[in-house]
Amino acid sequence: MSLSGKVAIVTGGSSGIGRACAIAFAREGASVVVASRREDEGQETVRLIKEAGSDGFFVKTDVAKEADVSTMVGKTVAYYGRLDYAVNNAGIEQVPSPLIDQTEETFDQIININLKGVWLSMKYQIRQMLTNGGGAIVNISSAAGLVAIPGIPIYTASKHGVVGLTKAVAVEYAKQGIRVNVVCPGSIQTDMYERFAKGNAQGIEQIKQMHPIGRVGKAEEIANAAIWLCCDGASFVTGQSLGVDGGYTAH
Ligand SMILES: NC(=O)c1ccc[n+]([C@@H]2O[C@H](COP(=O)([O-])OP(=O)(O)OC[C@H]3O[C@@H](n4cnc5c(N)ncnc54)[C@H](OP(=O)(O)O)[C@@H]3O)[C@@H](O)[C@H]2O)c1
Repeated sequence: MSLSGKVAIVTGGSSGIGRACAIAFAREGASVVVASRREDEGQETVRLIKEAGSDGFFVKTDVAKEADVSTMVGKTVAYYGRLDYAVNNAGIEQVPSPLIDQTEETFDQIININLKGVWLSMKYQIRQMLTNGGGAIVNISSAAGLVAIPGIPIYTASKHGVVGLTKAVAVEYAKQGIRVNVVCPGSIQTDMYERFAKGNAQGIEQIKQMHPIGRVGKAEEIANAAIWLCCDGASFVTGQSLGVDGGYTAH
């Protein structure tokens, strides 16, 4: 699965699944550009990329802002001259509440980051990939992109949207050597999960039991799927949603 000499962007690379993806791509030999809003955490991921034996840099990016996304890809290409892979992982959660109490502000924020952010990222990444003869993109959705999760309808809609975006873009660019797939994680032990778990011991036990495997996942287990979808071993795979969820969506 060597990605030696290749160049990847990971959005939301400052923590959790994104950081695990950045390190995994670095271990396989790719240079990795880390994009997110928090500078210190992003620089820490760059340090870990170097520790894993590769190189990379941080670009402060809000994926909901077109100018930032353009700069993210522009700086990557200015430095490395190409872009081969992208993991569009940046996202935020929704605090569970009844639909009738939810605000327009919450709707706009979640959709802007989780859905528009993926669309904007692909727009600039694919422009570049077309000039270097192809590439592979992995978007990070959620089990909530495949099935309903009550109490978080906006997040659920944003993640279903990422699955739809992925299919449409995959079909549009299939003949031009760009593969686009989406990974749908179950519950994964990250800061996002910790925020949800805080003070909710009973809920946490229920969450574990919703995964037939009987535990939540590790960020590295999502990174493994992203690596495989980008490498040549997946050369005939495009437009697919891959549940990496301990069986959550199988029942
Ligand atoms: N953990 C789970 O159980 C789980 C399950 C299914 C799907 N997911 C999805 O997996 C992805 C990663 O989540 P995680 O669990 O690793 O959570 P996390 O640790 O909270 O990481 C989220 C990442 O997204 C970045 N981000 C958020 N808003 C951004 C913005 N506007 N622009 C750029 N970056 C932004 C954050 O960086 P900054 O704050 O530095 O910007 C951070 O690096 C998300 O899309 C999430 O929905 C997670």
